[in-house]
Amino acid sequence: MSHTLSQIPPDILVARDYEGAARERLSSSVLDYIAGASGEERTLHANTQAFAQAWLSPRLLRPLTQGHTHLNLLGQALPHPILLAPVAYQKLVHPQGEMASAQAATAMDACFVTSTLSSIPMEEIAQAASRKWFQLYFQPDRAVTLDLVHRAEQAGYSALVVTLDTTIKAPSLRLQRQGFVLPNDIQAVNLSPYPQPPTRTLNEGDSIIFQGFMADAPTWDDLAWLVRHCQLPVVVKGVLRPDDAKALQAMGVAAQIVSNHGGRALDGVPASLSVLPAIRAALGPDYPLLLDSGIRSGSDIFKAIALGAHAVLIGRLQVYALAVAGALGVAHLLRTLREELELCMAQAGCATLADITPDLIHSSGNGVAPC
Ligand code: LAC
Repeated sequence: MSHTLSQIPPDILVARDYEGAARERLSSSVLDYIAGASGEERTLHANTQAFAQAWLSPRLLRPLTQGHTHLNLLGQALPHPILLAPVAYQKLVHPQGEMASAQAATAMDACFVTSTLSSIPMEEIAQAASRKWFQLYFQPDRAVTLDLVHRAEQAGYSALVVTLDTTIKAPSLRLQRQGFVLPNDIQAVNLSPYPQPPTRTLNEGDSIIFQGFMADAPTWDDLAWLVRHCQLPVVVKGVLRPDDAKALQAMGVAAQIVSNHGGRALDGVPASLSVLPAIRAALGPDYPLLLDSGIRSGSDIFKAIALGAHAVLIGRLQVYALAVAGALGVAHLLRTLREELELCMAQAGCATLADITPDLIHSSGNGVAPC
């Protein structure tokens, strides 16, 4: 368990410093659980590299005194485009877990996305968060899925984020080597009221993957059913292809999140940032599109917006800040990211998020002058 500070360590100068600070405070197995990703972690690295390889092309002499970071997302006015991503089991890194992150989100006017796998009941978290969405994992039994949706509606969540990229998870090699298991006192409490799904018996010749793990995996029919039965706008997370994006838009999904789950889903897919422009092009300029995976700074947020995102979600940095300084840390992280974004906007000549256009990304794609 982390040693939590009542103030921000003085060596945290930029948002990404939370990573190093958390590294010093977390046990190696918890750190591997948070920092690690699937397979060879190629996608994990691609996510941050894609941001590093996107160079900026600033505009001069723009008037900026009326500048701001406001936006409208799913009918809600937001003062800035930074959301806290759904992250499971936050009590792993801080005793107050999701409550602390949700309080920080409220203090900094950010939307908090509660995970299906939160370690504190979704109803309690809802009390602490003024802006809140609920992230849903489809459950094997539709009645259970629907009950989670109704609980989210009752608790005041204003959108449902359906994650579709991890119906089956490849093992994390880091965690396998560590032999990591969740401590007994940290559980997916939102699911504890429901009976365990019956264990599936496989017939001879059956695949443990197809007839086993994937037997209850959702398909397009299940998503269409969900969109019909949910009162809230449905947001789909885990989109990486323009054709999927168009099909989701056509079926009435209200917004999408370009995401590779921070490299924790299929290893070997490109960085979220790399696939973003094609997905934006497929969806048209106004359709609500968000991005996560790899953001470590305000200039990363700027780059995501330039390439087509309206807003971004922060996963790992959120957990690192929570580990380092609880609610104060997460609030400070959000403020720092917003200030970094504003600084980048000012330096690039952008007064509003709408001014952050694709031409602000240098087209040669690399910052090194050709020799
Ligand atoms: C993960 C799941 C819990 O990323 O979303 O580990």
